[in-house]
Amino acid sequence: MCGIVGAVAKRNIVPVLVEGLRRLEYRGYDSCGVAAIDGNGVARCARSVLRVADLERQIRDTKLLGETGIAHTRWATHGAPVTHNAHPIFSHNMIALVHNGIIENYAALRKSLRASGYKFVTQTDSEVIAHLIYSVYRDDLFSAVREAVKLLHGAYAIAVFSKNQPHRLCCARGGSPLVVGLGEHEHFLASDTLALAGSTNRFIFLKEGDVVELTLDSVRIASRNGELVQRLVHTVNTYSDAVELGPYRHFMKKEIFEQPQAIADTIAHIDAFDPELFGTGASDVFKETDSLLILACGTSYYSGLTAKYWLESIAKIPTQVEIASEYRYRDSVPNHRSLVVVISQSGETADTLAGLKHAHALGHSNTMAICNVESSTIVRLTTLRFLTHAGTEIGVASTKSFTTQLVALFVLTVTLKWLRSNTDAGLQTQYLKQLRHLPAALNSVLALEPQIIAWAKAFSHKENALFLGRGMHYPIALEGALKLKETSYIHAEAYPAGELKHGPLALVTKAMPVVTVAPNDILLEKLKANIQEVRARGGQLYVFADADTRIVNDEGLHVIRMPEHYGLLSPILHVVPLQLLAYHTACARGTDVDKPRNLAKSVTVE
Ligand code: G6P
Repeated sequence: MCGIVGAVAKRNIVPVLVEGLRRLEYRGYDSCGVAAIDGNGVARCARSVLRVADLERQIRDTKLLGETGIAHTRWATHGAPVTHNAHPIFSHNMIALVHNGIIENYAALRKSLRASGYKFVTQTDSEVIAHLIYSVYRDDLFSAVREAVKLLHGAYAIAVFSKNQPHRLCCARGGSPLVVGLGEHEHFLASDTLALAGSTNRFIFLKEGDVVELTLDSVRIASRNGELVQRLVHTVNTYSDAVELGPYRHFMKKEIFEQPQAIADTIAHIDAFDPELFGTGASDVFKETDSLLILACGTSYYSGLTAKYWLESIAKIPTQVEIASEYRYRDSVPNHRSLVVVISQSGETADTLAGLKHAHALGHSNTMAICNVESSTIVRLTTLRFLTHAGTEIGVASTKSFTTQLVALFVLTVTLKWLRSNTDAGLQTQYLKQLRHLPAALNSVLALEPQIIAWAKAFSHKENALFLGRGMHYPIALEGALKLKETSYIHAEAYPAGELKHGPLALVTKAMPVVTVAPNDILLEKLKANIQEVRARGGQLYVFADADTRIVNDEGLHVIRMPEHYGLLSPILHVVPLQLLAYHTACARGTDVDKPRNLAKSVTVE
């Protein structure tokens, strides 16, 4: 994780760096810092273990400004989140460096640098990079960085300046994301394009192994094998309004309420389930596909788990869903007729990316991304793609990216079905209609918020919760439990309701709230029996029940009535009250909803 930003210009760029950090805080917020060289060649630095707002205050108070600078927001890996471990990190008061990633051979490098007399003032792995660069620096920063990165094993995106060379920055990419932004007589770098919205819309997406030198009027790029190369310039219009809260108190609530629009935007261009929606050549790929292998992490993994039910029951295509960090390290038996589908909001999650690369290494050539960021690495490395149009998601707990991923996966399911078994066109129209009606249906679920707030007050005093679901609503229960634990820090676990009697029932007492997802589907009667098993043990049930389920309020049984059952798309509606329950419980407990402790949105380290 961690976010980095840098700029070289003939004006004070500290406000650009600070604004960039504010937008990159989603990548980690254990500490932040900035270092800059002013017009007279004087370098200064500020660091904070509080948020960017505190750093801004220090900058104002000390009148820190500069025309060349780098900045960092940290998600701690090596070394506690304390001021002396905050970046920028200096070597010999000359080389300033910010780093995102993990240096795997840092211990060996540290040992040999120490033996040569280098002193370490941080516990970070990053400090070895600063010292390595210093050790080979002979007034040519570009060469020094090129030489130093050759010694690094692991993942890095770095930005560096040398105090004696103002108006010159170097950066390098090896496994962590990094873009270069082009301006008029000024240049920028950042972990993502959003950080630079408003400063430029012209970007170079660096390739693995690239080392770059930025001056006021030049950009020199050396590829992994040392050759000077040109890279394509892309125009990316990112809007800074996406990172404004507007009338909302938190991004999580804003993003929950943006779901009807996000889904409408995701399906706006669809009038038929045409393979070309997934890219040129998708039809041929789909024809030779005999199974799906879905790889993802976190919430994106749960969208894959939900889709497995659709893919196997509607498209009749065998589907395997794997947590990317497990897949990449286990021995698996590749089926080259499998389509590998990677799901990722950010398109930069290190484990998902590594899972994709592992699949490539095993000889999988048919790959697809379901992703929210067009310019992301994952999209660039897959042959097919479907972009969700959720818009920028800032809250660390994913909400609108989950429901838009589900929509994308449903579109994929129906598309595969039609290609594989040319059935009833009427059904196709019906699925399209249901998709188009989803935003309105979601609005009626969002209107349940006042009742959910009342439940959240009761939940805020609990330390444990169970979530139950069955069939394709079991992954929804998993997602509900994840949302509650990450935002409110209440220990929550989800089970398929049928598994209750095989263990978790032992946890059920009056103190245990049991949240149940109760759609009016073929498993309803089975679920009702599971509800009775909990009631008989004095458990407190909180049930989101579709209309016509005949589950009503009673002793120990609290019910919120959902709209009518929404058929196959029901999981998309049922997850929304669980998001709201987590959000309001977190608010009632006073946690930092958008930036839960120890977490970060974009996990670009293993
Ligand atoms: C982090 C975020 C989660 C997200 C997961 C995968 O853990 O906090 O909200 O689901 O990463 O991220 P991705 O961008 O790959 O969907």
